[in-house]
Amino acid sequence: MSTKDNLIIFDTTLRDGEQSPGASMTRDEKVRIAKMLEKMHVDVIEAGFAIASGGDFDAIKAVAETVQDSTICSLSRAMPADIKRTAEAIKSANSGRIHTFIATSPIHMKYKLMMSPEQVLEQAVGMVSLARNLCGDVEFSLEDGSRSEFDFQCRMIEAVIDAGATTINIPDTVGYGTPEEYGAMFKNIMERVPNADKAIFSTHCHNDLGLAVANSLAAVMNGVRQVECTINGLGERAGNASLEEIVMAVKTRADVFPVTTRIDPIHIVPTSRLVSSITGFPVQPNKAIVGANAFAHESGIHQDGILKHRETYEIMKAEDVGWKSNKLVLGKHSGRAAVRARFEELGVTFESPEELGHAFARFKELADKKHEIFDEDLQALVSRVTAPSIAEKFQFSNLEATSKSGVKPHASLTLTIAGVDHQTESEGDGLVDAAFKAIEKIASSQTALQLYLVSAVTQGTDSLGDVTVRLEKEGEIVNGLGSDTDVIVASVKAYLNALNVLDAGVIKAHPQSGV
Ligand code: KIV
Ligand code: ZN
Repeated sequence: MSTKDNLIIFDTTLRDGEQSPGASMTRDEKVRIAKMLEKMHVDVIEAGFAIASGGDFDAIKAVAETVQDSTICSLSRAMPADIKRTAEAIKSANSGRIHTFIATSPIHMKYKLMMSPEQVLEQAVGMVSLARNLCGDVEFSLEDGSRSEFDFQCRMIEAVIDAGATTINIPDTVGYGTPEEYGAMFKNIMERVPNADKAIFSTHCHNDLGLAVANSLAAVMNGVRQVECTINGLGERAGNASLEEIVMAVKTRADVFPVTTRIDPIHIVPTSRLVSSITGFPVQPNKAIVGANAFAHESGIHQDGILKHRETYEIMKAEDVGWKSNKLVLGKHSGRAAVRARFEELGVTFESPEELGHAFARFKELADKKHEIFDEDLQALVSRVTAPSIAEKFQFSNLEATSKSGVKPHASLTLTIAGVDHQTESEGDGLVDAAFKAIEKIASSQTALQLYLVSAVTQGTDSLGDVTVRLEKEGEIVNGLGSDTDVIVASVKAYLNALNVLDAGVIKAHPQSGV
C-alpha cells in the first residue's frame, strides 16, 4: 500500500476553461467531456457557473445527473443567489460541492469590490455558513489570493474554516507568482492558521508567465493536496495549469513528489482531442504530453538511441497516456455496431438511435470520399458542427469555387435559411476570401473575423481539413468549427457554425466581473 498522500485532481475545463474567449460549450458537449473526465478518475469536476445563464445551470444539472464517480461542483460568487442556484444545480449529484469565492487582495477589494477588508471577511463567513447549510462539501477561494496580505489571508482562512469550509483554495489569479514564493506562502499559512488541519489546501494557477504548472507543483511540495487544472491548459487568458502535465509530473517523478493521483492516464490523449475539437482550440504540436510532437523523435541520434534502449530519450511511454499508433480503425464496409463501439471508446455516446443514425450517415459519407478513417476523423465528425446541439439558422447547401492563374478567384454559394435557398456570387483574394464574402452578402452579420485556422485532421492529402473561424460581434466572441475533405467547404461550414452559435445567443455572465 502506498504511504503517499492522495493529490485531489480538480478539473475546471468546463468552468475556467470555458472562460477562454470563444470556448463556450453546450450542455451536451459538457456532458461528453465530463464523462471522459469521470472515466479518467478525476476527483472533482467543476461543471460551470450556475448563475451565469439558464443554459449553464442546465449543463451543470445534466453533468450532476450523469456522472457517478466524481464530485460535481459549481462556482458561485459569495452571494446568496449564486450559492442557492449552485445548490439547486448540483442537488442530484452523488457527491456535490459548492465552490464560493471573493477577492481578498488590496487592489481587488478597493477597486473592484469597493469593500473594506472587514466587509469582505464578514461576507465570506456569512456565505460559507449559508453554503455549508446547503451542502456538506464547501470550497472557499480567496480570489487574487497570491497577492493578498499575509495577516488578512490567515484571518480569512481561520474564519471560513470555522464557518464550515472544507477546502481552501488560494488562486494565483493573475499568474504573477513564482514557485518559491507561492510554495512558501502555503507553508507559512498552514503553520500560522490554528485550524489549518481541518481543511484541504488547494492551488489554482494561471499561466500568464508560463509558471502555472511549476507554481502548482511547488505548492504540492509545501503541503497542498488539491490541484485545480484543465485539459490542454485551457482557461482565462493564458490558461490554467494543465492537468496532463501535473498528473504526469507527479507520476513520472514519483521519487520527488510526496503524492499520488487516482488518474488513469490512458484517457489523457482522447480527452485532450475531445476538448480541442469541441472548443476549437488546437493543441500546439510541441505541447507536453498531448502535442503531436511530444513523443516524436526526429534526430537520427535520438532515433538510434531509442531503438537501442528506449529510456535513453524517453521518460514516459506514449501509449501510457493514450497515444495509439495511427492505425486504420474503420473503413467503408464497417457496420453501425463497429462504428458505435469506436465512438464509445472515444467518449462519444448517443442518446437515441436517431443520433447514432446521424453520425453513421456522416461516417458513410466520409468513407466514400476517404478510404481510411482514423480516430481523429471520427472526432471531427461529431464536433460541434455536426452535432445537432444548436439550432442552425444558416445551412450550407452548395458551393462552386473556381480559381485559375491570373484570374480572380470566384465563389458561387447557396445557403438555406429557414428552408429557403439564397444564392449569391463573389470574388475575393483567394477562394476562402471569395466564399466568406459571399456568405456575408447573404448574412450581413456585422461580425469581425478574428481568427481563421486550418489544420489537417490526419496525415495524407485526403485528410479532413479542420477549420476554426472566430468571429466577434459587439464584444461577444464565438468559435465556429467545420470539417470536410474540401478545405473551402470546411471553411464555409466553420463560418456558418460561428454565425449559428452567435444566433443561438447564449451569453454567459462572467464570474469575476464583481459582486
Ligand atoms: O482564477 C481565479 O481566481 C478563479 C477563482 C474564481 C477560483 O478562477
Ligand atoms: Zn481561474
